[in-house]
Amino acid sequence: MPAIEVVLGDITSEDVDAIVTAANESLLGGGGVDGAIHRAAGPRLAQAGAGLAPCAAGDAVATPAFDLNPPVRHVIHTVGPVWEGGGHGEADILASCYRRSLGVADEVGARSVAFPAIATGVYGFPPTEAAKIAISTIRATPTEVEHVRLVAFDDETYELLAAAVQ
Ligand code: APR
Repeated sequence: MPAIEVVLGDITSEDVDAIVTAANESLLGGGGVDGAIHRAAGPRLAQAGAGLAPCAAGDAVATPAFDLNPPVRHVIHTVGPVWEGGGHGEADILASCYRRSLGVADEVGARSVAFPAIATGVYGFPPTEAAKIAISTIRATPTEVEHVRLVAFDDETYELLAAAVQ
C-alpha cells in the first residue's frame, strides 16, 4: 500500500514520476487542473491525448509529460464523473479514476504519483465524499506505486483530504 501524503499547492510543481490530470474524454485539455497541466506541458500534450481519445469516464491513459518542469515522466489522464446528484454511479466512477490511474502508473513503472482532487471542480463532485473515495480506493488498490501525493489547490480541500487520510 502506498504512503499517502496530502499537500497544498500546484500539481504542475510536483516532482514525481507521474502526475494525474482531471481531463475530459477528448483529452485535448480544458480549464482547471487540466488547463494548468496542458499549459505547463505544452501543445504536444494535447496532440498525444488526441491520439488516445476518447477516454471514458472512470478510465485512465498515460502520455509523456513533454515540457513539464520538474521533469515529470508521465501525465496520467483520467476522466471523472459529472456530479448529477449521486444516483448515477458517480461514486463508482470516481473510485475507478483512482484505481485505473494506479493501474496505468504500474504499467509505466511510476513509483510516485500526484493526484488532484478529481471531479471536485467543474464536475461538481462534493469534495468531502470525494476525499473519502480517493483515500479508500488508493488504500484498497494493489499497486507497485510507493508514494501518492494528494495535491489540494485550496485550504478547504486540503483540510478535507487531511481529515480523510487520518
Ligand atoms: N493544481 C492542483 N489542483 C488544481 C489546480 C492545480 N494547478 N488547478 C485546479 N485544481 C483543483 C481544483 O481546485 C479542484 O479541486 O483540481 C480539482 C479538480 O477541479 P477541475 O480541474 O475543475 O476538474 P474536474 O472537476 O474533474 O472537471 C474536469 O474541467 O478542466 C476541465 O478538461 C477538464 O472537462 C474537464 C473538467
